[in-house]
Order: sequence, then C-alpha cells, then structure tokens
Amino acid sequence: MLNVLLCRAFCLQLERWSCILRSSEDNLKNLQPLLGGAYSKNQLSWTLQIKPSVFSEYRIMCFKSYSMTFACLNRMKSYRLPWTRLYSTSRTTVDSSEVKTFLALAHRWWDEQGVYAPLHSMNDLRVPFIRDNLLKTVADHQPGKPLSGMKILDVGCGGGLLTEPLGRLGASVIGIDPVDENIKTAQHHKSFDPVLDKRIEYRACSLEKIVEETAETFDAVVASEVVEHVLDLEMFIQCCCQVLKPGGSLFITTINKTQLSYALGIVFSEQIAGIVPKGTHTWEKFVSPEKLESILESNGLSVQTVAGMLYNPFSGYWRWSENTSLNYAAHALKSSMQKHPAPAEFALKEETEELRIETSTNSGVHEALKK
Ligand SMILES: C[S@@+](CC[C@H](N)C(=O)[O-])C[C@H]1O[C@@H](n2cnc3c(N)ncnc32)[C@H](O)[C@@H]1O
Repeated sequence: MLNVLLCRAFCLQLERWSCILRSSEDNLKNLQPLLGGAYSKNQLSWTLQIKPSVFSEYRIMCFKSYSMTFACLNRMKSYRLPWTRLYSTSRTTVDSSEVKTFLALAHRWWDEQGVYAPLHSMNDLRVPFIRDNLLKTVADHQPGKPLSGMKILDVGCGGGLLTEPLGRLGASVIGIDPVDENIKTAQHHKSFDPVLDKRIEYRACSLEKIVEETAETFDAVVASEVVEHVLDLEMFIQCCCQVLKPGGSLFITTINKTQLSYALGIVFSEQIAGIVPKGTHTWEKFVSPEKLESILESNGLSVQTVAGMLYNPFSGYWRWSENTSLNYAAHALKSSMQKHPAPAEFALKEETEELRIETSTNSGVHEALKK
C-alpha cells in the first residue's frame, strides 16, 4: 500500500516537473514568430541573449528536482522503521562456513572434557563478570536469585553453556543461535531441570531476524566467544544495541587480533595441541579491544570495562589478567537517554537546504530566463 502511494506521489511530481519543462520550451516556441526564423534552441538562445548552457542547466535543475523528490520519498519510506530497512534485507551476520563448523560439533557441547572444555571453565570468570556488573545497575536484589526480574539475550548461545548458569541466577534468558542442531542440544539439556525449562527459551535464528520484534527488550545482551565468528561486526553490534533497553548492558568476550593470538590461538591451540578443532577460528575475524570499543562507542554504548583473560592449557583454568593480547571481556552500557532520531525530518531539512543552495547558485539562470 505504502509503495503504491509513494509511486503515485513520485509520478505526480514527475509529471509536474515535465509540465514546467514543456511549458517553458513552449513559451520559447511561442516567441518564435516575434523573433523570426526557424525554431532551434541555439538560435533562440542567441536571439534572446541567453547562453546555450542555460538550457542544459535548466534541464539539470529539473533532473535534480526529480532525484530530490525521489530521494525524499524513499527516505520517508525507509525511516518509518529504521531497523526494518537495515536488517530485513539479504544482509546477514551469519557466515555459512561457521555454521558448518558448529554443526559438526553440535552434539559435543556438554562434554566437559571435550572440545568445548575451555568454554565450560570460562564460566568461572564470565558468569561472575556478568552478574557483578549487572548488580551494579540495580539498587536491590534477591539473595540466591540475584538476577531475577532481568531479561537477558544470549546471542550465539551454542548448547547453552552460559545460558543455563544465567538462568540459575534468576534471569529470564532467551538463547539464540543460527545453528539449529545447537539449539536442539540446548533444549534437550535444559529439559532436565524444570526450573530452567521455564526460565530459558531457545530459538534457532540469527540476531538480525529478531531485532525488530525485540527492539529495546533486554536488560542485558551477552555475546560470548561469538563476535570472532560473525560476518559484518558493525551490523552485529548495531543489532545488539537495538535490542537493549536504554541503560542496558552488553557483554562480549572474544579474542584479540595480535601476532600472539595467531601463534597461540590458531597455530598452538588448533594445529599443535588440538585444544580447539582445526578451522574453528579465522585470525582475520579477530578484533582488537580498540576496534571493538570504537564500534561500541559509535553505536551509543559507553565502554565500562575491558579485562584480559588468560587460559592455562595445562590446568584447563582461566584467570583474569591485565594483558588483553589474547582473550578479553568487555562490558558496555547503552545510554539511558538514547532515542531514535527523526531521520525523515533531518533528511527533508538537509535536502531542502541543498535545493536552496543550488537554487541560489542557479539564480543567474532564473534571471536570464525571466528576461
Ligand atoms: C564458540 S561458540 C560460543 C557458544 C556460547 N556463547 C558459549 O560461549 O558457550 C560460537 C557460537 O556462535 C554461533 N554463531 C556463529 N555466527 C553467529 C552469528 N552471526 N550470530 C549469532 N551466533 C552466531 C555459533 O553457532 C556458535 O554456537
């Protein structure tokens, strides 16, 4: 319906401008008997003492007006729901080769000694990191269930290794993952615990698929060991920000992009020691804390903490470190004042201003035509 209305409005505007163009040419034609001789734009322009370029400038003006009308209409349409345009297109953060890798390991999530052992033991650091930072944002909490009343989105939840402890702390958690088999494993595991079964909901989908329906829904979004697997990190962070309530928290754990992370994270862990299956990581997708911070800040999130994490492959345990050159955790807060700008208004204002400037630079043309 909207498309039909927009098309009609555009056609009407198009017709209006072509009428103006036609009538000005007709006016010139009408002057022909007075001026004498055959009608030709160049002859007319010389006879009327107008440079021939005036005609082409006039056409350019008309063309710009068409484009402006079209651009304005287009923007008005797209800014009705800003995230609909951004995320309901074919753009995705999901890399199909990553899906294949995680699909092959989907049955191994809950094997504490298996390929996901480092993620099991990472809970010793990340669960208290998330809990304590969330508790800073509330005045009071229930002992035993400190996160009760909070809504958390666990993006890229895999088999639910982090989702479950967050649910046990009392939060209502939605875990999403683009790999269907991961979600089946997670569902199956939580079904053993009736309390978790109620508190946790799992969905097999990408974040961009639910961004519209869950806009400003969550007190916290967690993306643990996920951003190094996504396509289009900027879009992924934009979506995380979009689903957070104003004042909400984003938690990310990931791997830095350093020579050390290449040597230890890929060569040693994957190719020599076999701690992680070969091909799990792509160094190019790793992100430095500085780059991540700049993406977070440009999306209206203020970074509160960045802390290094070190894994000891011999003991199988993690510890906090000042050194962020391998793994690190980040906590950022969405501004509590954030509001969507009124882009359609801005766009129209901007383009009216553009037209005003162009009109004033082309005022010579108007003057000439008037004469
Ligand atoms: C290393 S695992 C981490 C799983 C879980 N967060 C944890 O720490 O236990 C990475 C997960 O991210 C998921 N993933 C990959 N690309 C994703 C994307 N674009 N959006 C959301 N999740 C994604 C994978 O399917 C996989 O389950």
